[in-house]
Amino acid sequence: MELTAATLLLLLLGLACLGVCLHRKGQQKRGEWPPGPRPLPLLGNLLQLDPKDMAKSLLTLSERYGPVYTLHLGLQRVVVLCGYQAVKEALVDQAEEFSGRGDVPLVFRLTQGNGIALSNGEKWKVLRRFALQTLRNLGMGRRSLEERIQQEARCLVQELAQTQAAPFDPTFLISRAVSNVICSVVFGDRFEYQDGSFLTLVGLINQNFQLLSSPWGQLYNIFPGLMSCVPGPHNRIFENFEQLQVFVLEQVKMHQESFDPNCPRDFIDCFLLKMEQENQDPLSYFHTETLVMTTHNLFFAGTETVSTTLRYGFLLLMKYPEIQAKVHAEIDQVIGRHRSPSVEDRSRMPYTDAVIHEVQRFGDVIPVGFLNAVTRDTRFRGFLLPEGTNVLPLLFSVHKDPTQFKDPATFDPAHFLDPSGGFRKQDAFMAFSTGKRVCLGEGLARMELFLFFTSTLQRFALSPLARLQDLDVSPLVSGLGNVPHPYEFRAVPR
Ligand code: HEM
Repeated sequence: MELTAATLLLLLLGLACLGVCLHRKGQQKRGEWPPGPRPLPLLGNLLQLDPKDMAKSLLTLSERYGPVYTLHLGLQRVVVLCGYQAVKEALVDQAEEFSGRGDVPLVFRLTQGNGIALSNGEKWKVLRRFALQTLRNLGMGRRSLEERIQQEARCLVQELAQTQAAPFDPTFLISRAVSNVICSVVFGDRFEYQDGSFLTLVGLINQNFQLLSSPWGQLYNIFPGLMSCVPGPHNRIFENFEQLQVFVLEQVKMHQESFDPNCPRDFIDCFLLKMEQENQDPLSYFHTETLVMTTHNLFFAGTETVSTTLRYGFLLLMKYPEIQAKVHAEIDQVIGRHRSPSVEDRSRMPYTDAVIHEVQRFGDVIPVGFLNAVTRDTRFRGFLLPEGTNVLPLLFSVHKDPTQFKDPATFDPAHFLDPSGGFRKQDAFMAFSTGKRVCLGEGLARMELFLFFTSTLQRFALSPLARLQDLDVSPLVSGLGNVPHPYEFRAVPR
C-alpha cells in the first residue's frame, strides 16, 4: 500500500490550496496547551509519525514531551495522553469532561454522527443508555445469552473437528462464529457458516477493520478533504460500508414487515418499538437513520474486536506452548473433557482468566481507540483545553506502562496473577477503555472470549505450521486496530 509519486504530488498540491485558511482557523482557538513538537505549517507533525506504526511513534514523542503533549495532525490539534496516570486522571477522574467524541472524519463521513460510537451530547447519552439497557434485557451478562454463545462455540468446535487437523487459516471461521452471536442479538437469528452472503459480510467487516488501520485510513483522517479526491484503497472503506449498510437496512425492512409491538424479538424490534412510542416527538433520537447506524455499530464492533482477539490469542498460545499446556491442564481439572464450559467456571480458572487478560493487554486490539474530546473548557494538569479539543488517550501505552506491569514487553500471564496463583485484577487493564466511553459490549465480549477460548482448547491442541521462532506476534498493521499476521494452524484433537 505504498503511496505513488502521483498521489503524493496531488496530496501536496491539495494541501497547499486547503491549508493556509484552515491553519489560521485552527490557530484562533484560545487555550493553554501542553508542550509538543513544533508543527510545520501545513503538515503539522506528520513527518514525525510513522503511519505504518502510529502507536510506536506516538510513544516515542512522549519520551521527549512528557505524558501529556500537543500534536498537530495536519491542521488538527490533538492532546495526547500517555501512560496509566495521565489516562486515568482524564478518563476516570474527569470523566464527564473527557466524554466527548472527537473529529474522526473518516468514520463521521460514514455515520453522519448517528449511532453511538461517533455521536455526541444528548443524542449519544440517549442512544447509549437505550442500547445498554436493551442488550441487558436481551441477555448480555446473563444465562440466556450464555447459552447462545455455548451453542455457537459447539458449532465452531464441530467445524474445527472437520478440518481433521489439516492446515487451515481460522480467520473467517472465527469471525463467523463470533459474528453469529451479535447477529442473534440484533437481527434475531444466526447464519449457517456455509451461507455465501454471510461470508461476504464478515469479509467486508474484516477488510474495513484492516483498511481503517492502514496508513491510508489514517491519512484520510488527517486530510479528509484532500483524501476524498485521491484514488486509493481507502475508497474501498466507503464501498464496503455501504454494502453493510444495505444489509442492515434490508434487515430493518424485514423486521418492519413482521413487527409485533407486543413481542419484540431482538434489538431491531426493541428500537422499532421505541420509534413507535416516540413518533409524535419531533426531537426524538429514535428514527431510521439512528436505528441503522446503531445496529451497524453493534454488528461491526461486535464482530471484529472479539474475533481479532481470539485470533491473536491462538497465535500467542502457539508461540508459547508451555502456556497452552497450562491452560489445557486447568480446563481438564476444572471442566473436564465432556461438558460445555460455562461462565461460572471462570472464577475457578485464574490461570486461563489471566491468559485471556494478557492476550488483550499484549495484543492491544484497539491500541488507541477513537478520538475523545473535552465537552467544555477543561483544566487538566495546569493546562487549559478549550471545549471541543480532541484528546487521544493512548490505551496501549497504559498496557505498556512499566509502573503498572513488571515486564510490559513480554507476554506473561503472571501480570494478572498474585503470588499464590489467584487472579489479580489490574486497574491499568484498559482493553475496553475506561470512563464514560468505556466499551458498551464489554460484558458480552468477556463472556464470548472465555467461552470460545475454553471450548476450543478443551477439544484441541493448537499446533503451528511455522517454527516457533518464525511466528511473528507483532501486529501486521497498527492503526484503529492491531491486526495480527495471518497464519495457518492445525487443530489437533486432544
Ligand atoms: C474484545 C472485544 C472488544 C474490545 C477490545 C473493545 C474495545 C472497545 C474500546 C477500546 C472502545 C472505546 C473506544 C474509544 O472510545 O476510544 C469501545 C467502544 C465501543 N464498543 Fe467495544 N470492544 C469489544 C467488543 C465489543 C462488542 C462485542 C460490542 C457490541 C456489543 C462493542 C460495542 C462498542 C460500542 C458501541 C462502542 C462505542 C461506545 C461509545 O462511544 O459510547 N464492543 N470498544
